Amino acid sequence: MTTCGETCELVPAAPRKNRSVLAKAKLAMAASSSTTTTGGHYMFLVALSLLSFAAYGQLSEQFYAAKCPSLDQIIKAEVDRTLSVDRRMGASLLRLFFHDCFVQGCDASVLLDDDAAKSITSEKTAGPNDKSLRGFDVIDRIKDQVEAACGVPGARVGVVSCADILALVTKQAVIYLAGQPGWAGWSLLLGRRDSTTANKDEANTVLPSPNSELPTLIEAFKNKNFTGRELVALSGAHTIGVAQCGNVDETQRQKCIDANNNNTFPLDDETPVDFDKGYYDNLLRDKGLLHSDRVLVDSNDLKLLVLQYARRKDLFFKDFANAMEKMSLMSVLTGTNGEIRLNCSRVNY
Ligand code: HEM
Repeated sequence: MTTCGETCELVPAAPRKNRSVLAKAKLAMAASSSTTTTGGHYMFLVALSLLSFAAYGQLSEQFYAAKCPSLDQIIKAEVDRTLSVDRRMGASLLRLFFHDCFVQGCDASVLLDDDAAKSITSEKTAGPNDKSLRGFDVIDRIKDQVEAACGVPGARVGVVSCADILALVTKQAVIYLAGQPGWAGWSLLLGRRDSTTANKDEANTVLPSPNSELPTLIEAFKNKNFTGRELVALSGAHTIGVAQCGNVDETQRQKCIDANNNNTFPLDDETPVDFDKGYYDNLLRDKGLLHSDRVLVDSNDLKLLVLQYARRKDLFFKDFANAMEKMSLMSVLTGTNGEIRLNCSRVNY
């Protein structure tokens, strides 16, 4: 057993309604990714954080109230319709958002296709994404509906960014799969703009491998300013969706292969498409599917959290929501940075 010390931050995050500007500044610090806090780098981090704070200070929950009043309605109707025929798609959309935000921030860079003329090398074929990420068609379909409802015919830019559509769709997908009346997910500020670049190299380096040991996972999340507690809460996303057998821990691989189901196995085989606390129950029963899931109980501190989340779904939902809110603010583009794409898979210019 190892301990993760201060990085675990076992004290729960403050309730959302009590968040002050200072707390938001802390969130902004989290949104700017840095790997070091020493010497001159500290000043750099502070400057970057202030910039980041300024950037997301321009976001608001009502950003599209006048520009696209039917946005929420379109998102809910289309997500609910999609998941009513393919519940797993909710898991795929949540993962798509994670893979977008961790690489260059929540800027829809993950949605861009290769475009040699514009020097864009798509993140879609990076190791963690290739033949694995799903949901691009869902985002495209919703984007088309949103622009048809709110865009100006013939315009050369869009009205609602792909980055915001992905953030909204993810939240609605998790609410749908949680199926808990009254649970509204997390507070989601809007006004993100879309990147004009993608970063395949970063996708290959910052997205954690399923074979990672615990210190590597803690480091990967710390580099993005997430605590050990947030790592455990966010990993609870693996209560929905599936993994390909090649990614499964050796101890679990045989049951994956035996299932012979498209060479995939549910991350939580008891309630595979319900967003619940089943992931933590599985970890405690030695049924975690990925090595990176199983090692969370290697640390006494993190195991305590796993136990708490397994006992209390409300605590898991609260911590997960807070961590998702924080993720949704990672290095967002606002103001005149980036653009609002017309088509999510290509830049406008
Ligand atoms: C802690 C580090 C993480 C690692 C190493 C990891 C790795 C993986 C891997 C290997 C898969 C299976 C992919 C495949 O076989 O095609 C997967 C699936 C999934 N991951 Fe993660 N993941 C991590 C964290 C997260 C986070 C933070 C989220 C979201 C908040 C997330 C959401 C998901 C979901 C929902 C699926 C199922 C997707 C589907 O069924 O299409 N993961 N993850």
